[in-house]
Amino acid sequence: MGKIISFANQKGGVGKTTSAVNVAASLGILGYETLLVDLDPQGNATSGVGVTKKGLKCTVKDVLMGTATAASAVIPTKFDKLSLIPANMALAATEFDLLQKDTPDPWAAMKNTFLPLRAMYDYIIVDCPPSLGMLTVNSLSASDGVVIPMQCEFYALEGLSQLMITVGKIKAHYNNNLAVTGILLTMHSSRLLLTQQVKSELKKHYAGKLFETNISRGTKLSEAPGFGVPVNYHDKKCKGANEYLAVANELSTRI
Ligand SMILES: Nc1ncnc2c1ncn2[C@@H]1O[C@H](COP(=O)(O)OP(=O)(O)OP(=O)(O)O)[C@@H](O)[C@H]1O
Ligand SMILES: [Mg+2]
Repeated sequence: MGKIISFANQKGGVGKTTSAVNVAASLGILGYETLLVDLDPQGNATSGVGVTKKGLKCTVKDVLMGTATAASAVIPTKFDKLSLIPANMALAATEFDLLQKDTPDPWAAMKNTFLPLRAMYDYIIVDCPPSLGMLTVNSLSASDGVVIPMQCEFYALEGLSQLMITVGKIKAHYNNNLAVTGILLTMHSSRLLLTQQVKSELKKHYAGKLFETNISRGTKLSEAPGFGVPVNYHDKKCKGANEYLAVANELSTRI
């Protein structure tokens, strides 16, 4: 049975999409059948794998609203063993629409609708929006694991405690199976004193949860989305490409 893993952090711009896209592509390169699910109305994961957001016939919104099956919303990508359920701005009103409609449990609609996908893929990677709203709660309710991308900043530690509380609540109310797969340090710069301070705090509280591989700050990683490709297909020799492959490897041993 395939595993569903949410890439979540309510803080914006911390590298959720960059990590979801590149870990998913790396899992595909490693030989795992992988599905990337874009659950953010910004649609960054969609354009990040070269899919145009405009004029999509079927998106993750249709799956959540129950007007399309999850399997019918899947589209192929040009990349090894990587498929996509896309998103665009249409998803922005979905939280409201789910509440309006008589959905039995609008906070956990994804749990059942995504069930058939588990038999089709080894890994289903969900890129969550920067909030702890209904979309993220849905994703966590449906997931086996959550990967938390974060930058080494003081405010990130405060955000992490909040996210851990939410994960605990979802575990209690919706999904006993949910576990923190790992905390992934992004845009990492080992020379900064603050990085070392934040890392030692993280080790104190979440020792076994930190991924051994950190993602360095690198221009290739920020350039790749402009070409609509994961970094491995932009420059497979760059540091970011190798680091994300290492994270995907580590992920496959963790879950
Ligand atoms: N390791 C990195 N090195 C350099 N730039 C990076 C790196 N990781 C992410 N970025 C850049 O930082 C910005 C934010 O990254 P990204 O979009 O992945 O974050 P996010 O958490 O998904 O944002 P949002 O909360 O808006 O969804 C982007 O411009 C991205 O290209
Ligand atoms: Mg994002």
